[in-house]
Amino acid sequence: MLDCDPGHDDAMAILLAAASPAIELEAITTVAGNQTVEKVTLNARRVCSVAGIRDVPIAAGCDRPLRREPIIAGEIHGASGLDGVEWGEPTVDADPRHAVDVLIERAEADERPLTVVAVGPLTNVATALQRAPRIVDRLERISIMGGAIGLGNWTPSAEFNIYADPEAAAAVFAAGVPITLVPLEVTHRALATDEVLARIAALDTPVARMSDALMRFFADTYQRVFGFDAPAVHDPCAVAAIIDPTLVPTRLVNVAIDTGSELSAGRTVCDVYGTTGRTPNADVGVDLDVDRFWDLMLAALAAYPRL
Ligand code: RIB
Ligand code: CA
Repeated sequence: MLDCDPGHDDAMAILLAAASPAIELEAITTVAGNQTVEKVTLNARRVCSVAGIRDVPIAAGCDRPLRREPIIAGEIHGASGLDGVEWGEPTVDADPRHAVDVLIERAEADERPLTVVAVGPLTNVATALQRAPRIVDRLERISIMGGAIGLGNWTPSAEFNIYADPEAAAAVFAAGVPITLVPLEVTHRALATDEVLARIAALDTPVARMSDALMRFFADTYQRVFGFDAPAVHDPCAVAAIIDPTLVPTRLVNVAIDTGSELSAGRTVCDVYGTTGRTPNADVGVDLDVDRFWDLMLAALAAYPRL
């Protein structure tokens, strides 16, 4: 299952997860983050409509963090949450169930272990774990795009997904489920350079044209806000880490979430040198095989038809 807040990079994560033959995308759940839950759910429907992804339920989830006031990233993803494309009416409907119910029902109903890839604030995942603690034994792994070993991107201390709901993140990291954390140090290497954009454009399909337009909007944002020469396509890295773990080498360390301070709320405190004595609880990404990541992403995009 992919829990997301589309979001330009979330859109690429959906396209990768749905097309990869190595995984089965059982559901897309949405959570308030980059934009309101209504907007990010519409955006997931839009992406799936263009891509012809019609067999994966899209379920809307939590509309606000566990305790804090909602924040949105309008200056990054635009007023719609997925600016840069002239969207038609979506042809894919949303599932009437709540995302948390979908997550709990799937975890409980099916003996097969479930992997969750979470690329937005962790509110849905935390709520499911709090409402049904027994699903801890059914979750094989949670792959999280979030956090940073060092510098944040929303505050100097915190990355957006974790900052948006630190209490949810703290609950998820304390739950005892195996975690892969894919932090900014990894995702800032997944840059949609001009060469990558040329490879996408050369596919010449509706999905490629959508992806190209999304990445060009994202590129303007990343140049204006962060001074990057190319946008960091964060979220598909957390999907890629499940498809092929060799793409994202990791270190097993303790990750604690700062929920208390003003200055560093939402920080993922990664005990890289083991100085705290706290029990390691996450496989934290430390690198990205950039060439093979983009080969994987392009192969996924190429799998969508010339409708
Ligand atoms: O900090 C990057 C993360 O925040 C990505 O998941 C992006 O989509 C936003 O949600
Ligand atoms: Ca996201």
